Amino acid sequence: MSALLLEVRDLRTHFFTRAGVVKAVDGVSFTMERGQVLGLVGESGSGKSVTGFSLLGLVDPPGRIVGGSIRLDGEELVGMPLDELRRLRGRRIAMVFQDPMMTLNPVLTVGAQMTLAIRAHEKVTGVAARERAASVLTRVGIPDAAARLDAYPHEFSGGMRQRVAIAIAMTHSPGLIVADEPTTALDVSIQAQILHEMRELSRESGTALVWISHDLATVSSVAERIMVMYAGRLVEEGPTATVLRDPRHPYTRGLLDSLPATARPGQELRQVPGNTPSLLALPPGCPFAPRCVRASERCVEDPEHRVDAVRAFRCHHPLERAA
Ligand SMILES: Nc1ncnc2c1ncn2[C@@H]1O[C@H](COP(=O)(O)OP(=O)(O)OP(=O)(O)O)[C@@H](O)[C@H]1O
Ligand code: SF4
Ligand SMILES: [Mg+2]
Repeated sequence: MSALLLEVRDLRTHFFTRAGVVKAVDGVSFTMERGQVLGLVGESGSGKSVTGFSLLGLVDPPGRIVGGSIRLDGEELVGMPLDELRRLRGRRIAMVFQDPMMTLNPVLTVGAQMTLAIRAHEKVTGVAARERAASVLTRVGIPDAAARLDAYPHEFSGGMRQRVAIAIAMTHSPGLIVADEPTTALDVSIQAQILHEMRELSRESGTALVWISHDLATVSSVAERIMVMYAGRLVEEGPTATVLRDPRHPYTRGLLDSLPATARPGQELRQVPGNTPSLLALPPGCPFAPRCVRASERCVEDPEHRVDAVRAFRCHHPLERAA
């Protein structure tokens, strides 16, 4: 088996709205190896969730994938018939949403929905499926799991509900899990716990993770590689430590400067100056130009993808590499 798990090439997912075409994902390319944890960061509206949904074929009208390729284990997912895609979902690729109720059915017990999820892809008896369900729940840190199978989602706390959703995603040890801000709704200490546990689980089962977040600090604690997204495009990608220590793209720099950890006591927190652009009215060329202190006339032309020794970025006037 090759190390390459996922290959995304020039992915374009657009929404055809009354106001115009929203190019939520516009030419995104990246690859992932088995077991890798990849962080996807960017401001609200930059296209992180739509990228995640696209990987699972979960984009609904008025949106659709209008171009590009998504290969999982060499198999093309773009244009795959829906029934085949369904068979793949849950078994080889799964998603954890910010709101666990996107996964959970409020009127079924947790045990009932977990056994359904198990038996959707495996021929096992109800009893065996229940035992499996209890063991997966235990793995995600739910105490007294066998007894909790008979509880309904509303009988769990928010953190425990998210653990159940994670357990369902992990049921078949898929090659890839897309986790879309799975901890942002939870309180900080629970966030850290779940983050740590998911990282461990992915290590044990060899599951690769796309960890989506608008929070650089969270991502940097889980992801070995990081992708920075702006206005539907990837603007910088590389090993997390390198990108955070020594960013080349001005937008990445801006995100870092807005992090609390870089602020001195008493100093006001900085935001990336300017507003998130409307995807309906992007300037020609580099979409970051209206907010960029390094912008020049050249930036009305689309910047090419460039690479240095370890990472890729898209900018005409990148920051110098630190010595
Ligand atoms: N159903 C839809 N119809 C029209 N536009 C949509 C739809 N879903 C998403 N979009 C647009 O696609 C763009 C990207 O949205 P997306 O949800 O991927 O952002 P995000 O990076 O996940 O933001 P957040 O951090 O707020 O979750 C946004 O401009 C959004 O308005
Ligand atoms: S291409 Fe130009 S506008 Fe865009 S980030 Fe680089 S310097 Fe700034
Ligand atoms: Mg989102």
